[in-house]
Amino acid sequence: MVITRTREELYKTLEGFSKQTGKLALIPTMGNLHDGHLSLVRLAKLKASKVIATIFVNPLQFGENEDYKKYPRTEKLDVEKLKKEYCDILFIPRSGEEIFSKFEKIRTIDSGSLGSELCGKIRPGHFNGVLTVVNKLFELIKPDIAIFGAKDYQQQILIKKMAKSLHPKISLIKAPIVRSKNGVALSSRNNYLSEKEVDIASNLFKCLQKSVVSYKNNEELKNILNNAKSFLISKKLVPDYFELRDSELNLISKNNFEGNKVFLGSVTINNTRLIDNIEF
Ligand code: PAF
Repeated sequence: MVITRTREELYKTLEGFSKQTGKLALIPTMGNLHDGHLSLVRLAKLKASKVIATIFVNPLQFGENEDYKKYPRTEKLDVEKLKKEYCDILFIPRSGEEIFSKFEKIRTIDSGSLGSELCGKIRPGHFNGVLTVVNKLFELIKPDIAIFGAKDYQQQILIKKMAKSLHPKISLIKAPIVRSKNGVALSSRNNYLSEKEVDIASNLFKCLQKSVVSYKNNEELKNILNNAKSFLISKKLVPDYFELRDSELNLISKNNFEGNKVFLGSVTINNTRLIDNIEF
């Protein structure tokens, strides 16, 4: 695996590759890699002839009181994990300057009204930060394919919308959620939880599953959502939101919606916010 730490090293490595044939797949990450990230690398290896991962903890997507400083940075372990998966290139900028150079004006990407709903309501500005860095990575790397995990459902939809207008040649792939044995969706933030808290957190997935069954049984949507919130509270999970949306994240307000849909939930446990969703 070639490790690049500056734009120059990155460009040189990519130039070498562009002389060969085949597709380049990009997996942007913030590091602290777990099996969810590695599943993206495995999928990328099937879809492209070269795979590039990036590790950059993007300050623009963290709010003032969020965990930017304490976000786990585990570079050595991450490098080993990526090598084991035969990742071809890793871009791990030596400083933020390699992404947002002081010689360029940052092009902020506006996540629009959807960017202020669901997670965006709780984290104002978060999705503008995500889109701004992903757009920059797309500009620097110019991949053919980019892969994002379905756990961050809203992020993945917003990136798809942004790419459609700014990077129409890039194919975006949504990769399935990877879960631990007890059903918890893998996330770097699970590291903030004790074993007991992870066990409690597994009730979010149970709640999503129960809600799908209730919807299919034609229970009143309002009751399903209220029951879901009561269930989460009874398990000592504080619900931030629990909603049903269509696959593009438009609101669904009634039963018998026939298209693809998704229940999305966010809960807080001991100051750690976890998200999960289930498509059906
Ligand atoms: O999902 C993440 O880890 C981040 O939001 C991303 C896409 C790497 C942008 O910083």
